[in-house]
Amino acid sequence: MSFKDVYEGWKSNPEGFWMKAAESIDWIKPPSKALWDDDAPFYEWFKDAKVNTCYNAVDRHVISGCGDQIAIIYDSPLTNKKSKTTYSELKSQVAAFAGGLAAKGITVGDRVIIYMPMVPEALIAMLACARIGAIHSVVFGGFAANELAVRIDDATPKAIISGSCGVEPDRIVEYKPLLDSAIEIAHHKPEFNVIFQRPECIADLGTIDVEWNALQAGTKPAPCVPVSGDHPVYILYTSGTTGAPKGVVRPTAGHLVALHWTMKNIYNVNPGEVFWAASDVGWVVGHSYICYAPLIHGNTTVVFEGKPVGTPDASTFWRVIQEHNVRSFFTAPTAFRAIKRDDPTGAMIKKFDMAGLRALYLAGERADPDTIAWAQSVMGVPVYDHWWQTETGYTIAGNPAGIEKMPVKIGSATVAMPGYDVRILDEGGQQVKPGELGSIAIKLPLPPGTLPTLWNAPERMLKSYLTTFPGYYETGDAGSIDNDGYLYIMSRTDDVINVAGHRLSTGAIEEVLANHPDVAECAVIGVADELKGQLPLGFVCLNNGCNRSQADIVLEVIGLVRKKIGPVAAFKLACVVDRLPKTRSGKILRATMASIADSKPFKAPATIDDPIILDEIRSALQSLGFAK
Ligand code: COA
Ligand code: AMP
Repeated sequence: MSFKDVYEGWKSNPEGFWMKAAESIDWIKPPSKALWDDDAPFYEWFKDAKVNTCYNAVDRHVISGCGDQIAIIYDSPLTNKKSKTTYSELKSQVAAFAGGLAAKGITVGDRVIIYMPMVPEALIAMLACARIGAIHSVVFGGFAANELAVRIDDATPKAIISGSCGVEPDRIVEYKPLLDSAIEIAHHKPEFNVIFQRPECIADLGTIDVEWNALQAGTKPAPCVPVSGDHPVYILYTSGTTGAPKGVVRPTAGHLVALHWTMKNIYNVNPGEVFWAASDVGWVVGHSYICYAPLIHGNTTVVFEGKPVGTPDASTFWRVIQEHNVRSFFTAPTAFRAIKRDDPTGAMIKKFDMAGLRALYLAGERADPDTIAWAQSVMGVPVYDHWWQTETGYTIAGNPAGIEKMPVKIGSATVAMPGYDVRILDEGGQQVKPGELGSIAIKLPLPPGTLPTLWNAPERMLKSYLTTFPGYYETGDAGSIDNDGYLYIMSRTDDVINVAGHRLSTGAIEEVLANHPDVAECAVIGVADELKGQLPLGFVCLNNGCNRSQADIVLEVIGLVRKKIGPVAAFKLACVVDRLPKTRSGKILRATMASIADSKPFKAPATIDDPIILDEIRSALQSLGFAK
């Protein structure tokens, strides 16, 4: 069957398409129908089913005789450790940990925050929550205490599961002091914390802390608890226009059905084969493609704790692909830009046998044509750009390689997948002509597994996604579709920027800058960066009469963002200006500032501040009358 037939088949009978896909899932009670639209524009899929995510990701593979197959390969160049966990071992470990949580009173619907580095125990914690119907919310380790506190207050977890530390190439990141200070800042207090002690740093335990093994001692393994199809399996916070992150809700049944469908049809792997997504469990890619989808589909997943370069060098990815016989590999373009910078001719790859690899999949940010062409030429496999978001949880547009390998057009994420009717709209909500730029919107309903709502915030769901273009989901991205239906993603339409594949809100950074006592007004924009795609650049106007050194203030605001948001913000560029460019009605002209900054040759600063670049931007602004 051609992809066109599959897509048209979905379009002519969407519910039939998804009911058929649902046959791949083991239901406790199968759904009576696919779509619930009685509360439109809020939609639910497979709502009346009873099912358990952990059963489908773990237990059923053991029952079907695949218990000896490797479920998780852990490969950590940062700690020089490797391990393999079979499906049988995973089942025992998850059931035992879930038993420990249940014995402490965690039950269906309770929220549990997971603050873990890239170790197999992060997946065990996620699956254990799913096993007993608890709703997990994983927080990325590169966020600071304040960001963790915001998520604690929104999700109101009964427990927090944390590692004792993360490992970065140049430092050990102690999680426990961050966790303690987050709990101190938050209004909501968890009943207890579970601490996974890593030998790299043993945390001191306080009165509400229980050690990982001690939690399980004397408790019984927990069985899989049936939950309804619309029960949230997790909440994942992501950046929006304002500083407060949005809690994307992931419904159990649709998530199982849709993720299973993607593994063969998009990523072209068969059960038993090794699939690797080099991301982090703190991001949606990690949720969907390190943890859930490969396991639901019966693949082997790789938990990689390392960086593409420097640990030890730019050949790490090739070594992992060869050593573990990876068949499909998924990462962010920024990782390839880093490898290309260190090994521009691709000499290192020639030392490895990567014959087993079928394709490279890139997502998370715009894949620049140079990087795609380079990856294709040195790796000798197809490179598929694909586009999706935390909100959808899986591909909106991609190359359906398991159905039909569509010709790659460099710069395009290829075509919309079944479930997604993607349109390009002008400001008035009218569809534009092929090739013309506009807002990318998706005709409602969104397919199974996508967000039904935002946690505790249905009004924000309406306002953020469903109001601008009635009948459509507003993606927040701008782009075009060509005559062949190929989609080109160009930029965001809101104040979200993408730094090294990490989604950040400029509004959140502005909130931090505005809190500096000498800052009267500020603006943050994203500027192009060769390595990270974009970098945040801050402009601050000082209070009248402030005569402190500008350099000191710049360093202080940079330090504040690192402390309040975390190192992941990569906020290292800021300058003091006289005033900000504004419209007559007082709106800050961020786009004007971004185009001035983008016209300057930009490089990621090697040091905390790069006065040469800032001076150039300042003088460009000055020529327009905005800076001193
Ligand atoms: N815990 C603590 N700190 C972290 C962290 C973590 N889990 N992850 C990153 N950081 C820190 C880094 O150490 C760095 O600190 P520094 O300012 O002291 O150098 C800072 O946050 C910025 O990190 P990052 O921008 O990620 O740069 P990096 O050099 O650490 O890594 C990449 C570069 C390309 C490997 C990384 O950005 C990456 O993997 N990006 C892909 C993201 C992704 O998977 N997105 C999902 C779509 S696939
Ligand atoms: P996140 O929710 O963190 O996955 O970020 C989603 C956003 O990243 C999208 O809305 C896009 O702005 C951007 N993005 C993701 N994948 C791509 C891609 N393949 N091409 C361009 N931008 C992308």
